[in-house]
Amino acid sequence: MKIAVVGTGYVGLVTGACLANVGNEVICADKDAAKVELLNAGGIPIYEEGLETIVKRNRADGRIRFTTDTGEAVRESDVVFIAVGTPPDEDGSADLKHVLAVAKEIGENMNGHKIVICKSTVPVGTCDKVAKVISSVTEHDFDVASNPEFLKEGTAINDFQSPDRVVIGCASREAAETIGELYKPFMRRSERIVYMDVRSAEMTKYASNAMLATKISFINEIANICDRVGADVEKVRTGMSLDERIGPHFIYPGVGYGGSCFPKDVRAIASLGKENDIDTKLLDAVRDVNGSQKLRLYHAAKAKFGSLEGKKFAVWGLSFKPRTDDVREAPSLLNIRLFVEEGAQVAVTDPEAIDNARRDLADLGDAVKFADDDYAVLEDADALFIFTEWEEFRSPNFDRLKGLMSAPVIFDGRNLYQPDKMRERGFDYFSVGRP
Ligand code: UDX
Repeated sequence: MKIAVVGTGYVGLVTGACLANVGNEVICADKDAAKVELLNAGGIPIYEEGLETIVKRNRADGRIRFTTDTGEAVRESDVVFIAVGTPPDEDGSADLKHVLAVAKEIGENMNGHKIVICKSTVPVGTCDKVAKVISSVTEHDFDVASNPEFLKEGTAINDFQSPDRVVIGCASREAAETIGELYKPFMRRSERIVYMDVRSAEMTKYASNAMLATKISFINEIANICDRVGADVEKVRTGMSLDERIGPHFIYPGVGYGGSCFPKDVRAIASLGKENDIDTKLLDAVRDVNGSQKLRLYHAAKAKFGSLEGKKFAVWGLSFKPRTDDVREAPSLLNIRLFVEEGAQVAVTDPEAIDNARRDLADLGDAVKFADDDYAVLEDADALFIFTEWEEFRSPNFDRLKGLMSAPVIFDGRNLYQPDKMRERGFDYFSVGRP
């Protein structure tokens, strides 16, 4: 099929690359000329495992190309994906200006029937708005579908190539099945393509992310109770997870969820509810709990040290989760800011996210030092804080760690180590929800 993907962000690029990889002809369009130039020169603007190889192979075979000309991409394609960003407005609702601007451009460049697919996460009713904008500028026939993405950063290629499910919302069964054909090469079981109406598909995406965020806030609240009553949340979690109705996934306690999706989507669905006179108590609580949880280590440090003035802190892990360089809404940055505001010096490291963190923390100047070496940041540190569960932090050389630090104190926001073992090793060890 001939496919245009508008928006070469994380979602657009992965979608375009994976669809090209199964033989489609894909044109990716983006307004950002620098990005397009980089892509055309063989570069990849984001870090995502496996993406570079796929783009490279398909670019060499002429199945994927990049342009700043959205009109051309639309004219040459039968199917157009909209994968541009929907940043939150001040009130938390998704800002649709990019999506609707693309819709207008699609309409203006229609030269025959097209299927327009909203891949961006958009509030219920957006596809109808897209259809309205397109029909206001063209006489040509078209279908609009909602086909939300469920990709996780770090495993996006794998998620795209073996999805749990594909949701397609479209009023036309024929158009929906055409979209379904695009996904068949990836589906071991075609019944996992779920067809529905447009609004339900739009809602499915928000409901899924809100459910996952709820699970995380739930276990974090349980962890906080465990802390106080002498129970071990890791044992509680294991005990809970064997109930098939609960299951083992997404109930890992920690320092709260971050990233580009959960915080934005939980806000957006709550704000959608409120616009429709629904008092979204649960969704609001999910956000509140997460907001407090992100400060969990900061409060633990305050409880231990009182004043942070003059303290030297080491930080392992900056990205909001492992296997990504993304620091958006990352708990690490929030805590580092507070440490510095209260007079601490902070030395930080991360396997992938240093550049992004350096950019976001630039205003803190010399109070934050960046290093590539996990051990270098520990020199004379009064405490080590762990915000991200990167594999390489799981079994460090504890003797070396102790030798370098001025005091053997660890605040572990991801429960990487065993509390009893840490005590034996002579560490003052704080984790989440464990005695
Ligand atoms: C998420 C959804 O999983 C994906 O389906 C959607 O398309 C986009 O949003 P992503 O943001 O890449 O993907 O990250 P994810 O792996 O879901 O983790 C989100 C956050 O939750 C991370 O900060 C992670 O540390 C945290 N988390 C996750 C927990 O604290 N505990 C858990 O048990 C699971």
